[in-house]
Order: sequence, then structure tokens, then C-alpha cells
Amino acid sequence: MSTTDESDTTGTTELAPSGIPPEDPGSRELAPGSEIPANSTVNRRQGFGDGFLSTISTGWAQRPEILPPAREQAVFAALRRAAVSAAFPGKRLVVPAGPSKVRSNDTDYPFRAHSAFAHLTAWAGDAVPDSVLVFDPRDGEDEPGHDVTLYFRERADRTTAEFYANPSIGEFWIGPRPARGGVAADLGLDTAHIDSFAASDDDLVVDEDADLTRFVSELRLRKDEYEIAQMQLAIEVTADGFDDIVADLPRIIAHPRGERLVEGIFHQRARSDGNWEGYDTIAASGPHACYLHWTRNDGAVAPGDLILIDAGVELDSLYTADITRTIPVGGTFTEVQRRVYEAVLEAADAAFAAAKPGALFSDLNAAAWSVIAHRIEEWGFLPVSAEASLDPTTGHHHRRWMVHGTSHHLGIDVHDCAQARRELYAGGTLEPGMVFTIEPGLYFQIDDLMVPEQYRGIGVRIEDDILMTADGPVNLSSAIPRTADDVEAWVARRSS
Ligand code: GLY
Ligand code: MN
Ligand code: MN
Repeated sequence: MSTTDESDTTGTTELAPSGIPPEDPGSRELAPGSEIPANSTVNRRQGFGDGFLSTISTGWAQRPEILPPAREQAVFAALRRAAVSAAFPGKRLVVPAGPSKVRSNDTDYPFRAHSAFAHLTAWAGDAVPDSVLVFDPRDGEDEPGHDVTLYFRERADRTTAEFYANPSIGEFWIGPRPARGGVAADLGLDTAHIDSFAASDDDLVVDEDADLTRFVSELRLRKDEYEIAQMQLAIEVTADGFDDIVADLPRIIAHPRGERLVEGIFHQRARSDGNWEGYDTIAASGPHACYLHWTRNDGAVAPGDLILIDAGVELDSLYTADITRTIPVGGTFTEVQRRVYEAVLEAADAAFAAAKPGALFSDLNAAAWSVIAHRIEEWGFLPVSAEASLDPTTGHHHRRWMVHGTSHHLGIDVHDCAQARRELYAGGTLEPGMVFTIEPGLYFQIDDLMVPEQYRGIGVRIEDDILMTADGPVNLSSAIPRTADDVEAWVARRSS
């Protein structure tokens, strides 16, 4: 564990006698009339005068070292690390947070730590890019296990050029960066400077080693009590975002790009609460609702149409909700819209009824698809009988109108546990602590000649987030209106 002593220059850039680091061309003087290099970090910069360089590192108050108490989730992350350590005896394991990613030129996307890194460190929304969690196997049989160290680029001393002349990471530019001691106390982890990390050929690295990648993904299949509380909170604040959208429907209808406004209203709620979204909001009105992941969101929102909104708030901990509601823009469903809506709701309720500890994950699909196939048969355009359509080898005609699955695991990623083995996921059983979606839909595209005209252009999805407990499933998002009558009453109450 380190201190935050200002005189500690470990790993920082030494100043050249001129006070200008030779490896930082951005702080060199550009000679008047010199050719401007094709490098935007150099061509627009003026260089620093001697007065600046001789004073910039002085006159700053000593920063007190205040060690925070460990954050609430640190104890859960320690248990997860213990499970990883036990599964890989004698191996050196590396879990990178990942780098910042360039959006264009010298502008990055907002940094988002790798989910396995966040899960194993409890360092999530505030993690520093390029950090690495390392499990070093202990020598000797009487001391099995691993020493675990978090390497990160701690803040640079103010005598370094990094402090004032590095727009990517300098504190003058991006704001305060954490010190090693503070992070160690906050996360309950040993910490070291990233410059002291050296990779070895024998390392098992997440996303490079298949066994380790799979293990850390499967570790998230069952959520602990901290994770469940975060999911509940993410869903609660997501409900507020949906409510804001419904309350603003008149303005949305009046706007030529109403879908964009829907996206913006949800974003405003997420950001003003201090959060983010776990995935790009889908604001799909009218026929756009038939495109499963419509995120262009550039269309109008017209009364008479349905709007499908699929959105989820992601908290600082990175746990995200994933919720869809389909709402009649004008406040009431037409008869056909309601018919389709109620079939989807029936499919969702059938999947929920099939969800029990010990049931197969695939039972959720089977229950929802059975309703979907039977309703389409009843409406007269399923080309075979519902029974024939439900045959997984020769049938599945109904899936033309619901090509996606009914459920996926949900957590720190919207499609959580994505590297888990099939036998534990699609072929696995439902267990207490699992959190997953139930999200059947029906999508009749505008130019689908297999469906009667009155159905064309209607898309409906209803998506709820479900926690499995020993006593059965709990719909964590049931407070957001979901029956056709409740949705109509919601619009009447909030948007008039
Ligand atoms: N929002 C993506 C999904 O529902 O899976
Ligand atoms: Mn989903
Ligand atoms: Mn969704």
C-alpha cells in the first residue's frame, strides 16, 4: 500500500533540465515560422514560457491523505476474488479494466471498465482506464492461494509534466485522479503503480484465456445481495425515466423527431440522477417498433401509432435495468393493437408462470412461444398448426414474428454472463439469485405480405426484469404499468 506523499515521484515523468519532458512534443516550443506537424496535439499548442515552467509545480497546498472506509460492495468483490483464486491454483491471472476507446481523432468515448474487472474489484464507474487486477500465485503448499494487486495509473506528482501538459490524463485537464492509498482503502485491495506491472507469457488473461473468461462470466449467473439491491435501484430509477417520457408525450408528438426527444428525456433523467444508460435507448414509434434494436431514433411519434421504448438506467456500480414498454401514443389502443398487445402480455405472463427454481431456462421460451403460436393460429395467418409450428426441428414458423429469445441474464451487462457455457445458460436451470428478463414480442413489419393488412406496422414488446428466489420469481419492474388498461390509464394520468 502506498502513501499519497507529494514527494513520491514513483512512476512519474522526470523533468528535463529545461523543465520540459522530451517525450512530450506538445510542450515544446514551436519555432516561429516552422512547419506545422501533421499532429493535432502539437500544431495548435504554444509551448510554455520559462515563467510558467518555473512556477507551475510550486505553490500548491499539500493534499491531505484521507483514507475512506471501504465501500459497501468491497466485501462482496473479495468473495468473488476468493472464488477465482480457488478455481485457478498456481496460475497468474490478469483481469484488465481495458483502455479508453477513441471516438474520433483525440476524442474518446466515455470510459467504461470491463465488466469482469468491475465485478472483481468493485471499481466500476470511477475506475481508471488501463488498470489491471493481478492474481499472483503464492509459493509453497502451506500458503495456497494468490496475492491480489490492483495496478493503476495513480495521480502524478505536481512536479511532473503529466500534471499540467497531458490532456488525456493530467489533473489540470481531467480533474483529480486517485492516489494509491485512497483506492486501497476504498476497495480493500493492495495497490501498485501501473508502471510496475509486467506481463508474462504464462499469464492467463481475461478475454484471451477461454477458461478464465468463462469462469468470471459464470460467476455472475447468481447475484449476491448487493447486486440484487443495485438491480432493484436501477429498475426504480428507470421507472422514473419512463414516467418522464409519458408525461412529455404532447411535446414528443409535436416534435418532428419525437423519437429523439424520447431518447433525450430518458437520458436527461439518467444523467441528472447521476447515472447513465446500460445500452442505447430504443425509441421506436409506429413501424420502427418492428426493428428489434431500432436506435436511430430519428422518426416522428404520431398519435394512432404505438411507441416501443426499450431503455435501462445503469448505476455507478454498472448494474443496469432493461425494460420495454409499448405505449399507444394517442392514449388508447385500437382494437387490433390491443389484440396484439394482450397476446404479448399473455406470453409474458406464461413465461413468468413457468419460472421456478429448478425449471429450465428454455422453459421460458417454450411458454412464451406456445402463446404466440396459438394466438397467430387463431388470427388465421400461421401457415401451419400451432402444434406443428412449435416443433423445434420442422416448425418455428411463428418465429418470423418473434425472432428473438424470451429471456437473457441481466446484471452488470445488459446481456450478462455472455461467456457462460451453454449448459449453464440456455440449457441450464433457474436458480435463486438469478436475474433475467422476460421479453416476448410480436412484430408485423409494414411490408409483410404474410400478415393481413390491419396487423402491418404493429410492433409490441413487453420486457420485465425478474429475480428468482427460493419462493419463486419476483417481477422487479411490475410497478411500471404493463396491462393494456393500466398503460392507457398511465398516459391519461401523466400526459394530459
Ligand atoms: N435492450 C436489449 C434487450 O432487450 O435485450
Ligand atoms: Mn432485454
Ligand atoms: Mn431491452
